[in-house]
Amino acid sequence: MRPFLIAPSILSANFARLGEDVDAVLNAGADVVHFDVMDNHYVPNLTIGPMVCKALRDYGVTAEIDVHLMVKPVDRMIVDFAKAGASIITFHPEATDHLDRSLQLIKESGCKAGLVFNPGSPLHYLDHVMDKLDVILLMSVNPGFGGQSFIPATLDKLRQVKQLIDASGFDIRLQVDGGVKVDNIAEIATAGADMFVAGSAIFNKPDYKAVIDEMRSELAK
Ligand code: DX5
Ligand code: ZN
Repeated sequence: MRPFLIAPSILSANFARLGEDVDAVLNAGADVVHFDVMDNHYVPNLTIGPMVCKALRDYGVTAEIDVHLMVKPVDRMIVDFAKAGASIITFHPEATDHLDRSLQLIKESGCKAGLVFNPGSPLHYLDHVMDKLDVILLMSVNPGFGGQSFIPATLDKLRQVKQLIDASGFDIRLQVDGGVKVDNIAEIATAGADMFVAGSAIFNKPDYKAVIDEMRSELAK
């Protein structure tokens, strides 16, 4: 079994001192930096773009940066984020007219590729592209904002996707994003997730290390 990864979402970080806050959460034991990109078009919020990703690299962040694109269309942003230092790029299938082409674009850019499913999005988009995926991300809230509650129906969907991944034989991470907390992370892992995005649960607490340690001890149970 692959190790669990904890990916704090910087949506809940302090944007006025982002580099320091990202360093702090990595020093506290986070594995990956989750970078939420919103365009006020595909989702009703506006966040950060490739310049900020590059600024984090220039600041000295060497950890994987996991860029979650909530933008439409996606191709231009894929190219720009790859150049800006992204490690993983995921997007929502509804946000592109050419799913396979967008996935290929990510791979050609040298990044890991993933598809993201909203709580109401069907899984059939996976049918012909499993071989191009490094990550499948299930949203456990509707995208656009941090601090929402985990939608329990995600657990069933996680179990379904876990079966699909196992049956495919491909090495694909199963990521979950939205409402992940210390008190539900174990149940989410049991349903099949191995990569956990958590924004408010980590950044809204004064001691990041304490929260990440608690998450890891829940995952070890
Ligand atoms: C929502 C974002 C999430 C969000 C998670 O659209 O994709 O990454 O920031 O935040 P929490 O953990 O607070 O639900
Ligand atoms: Zn996200």
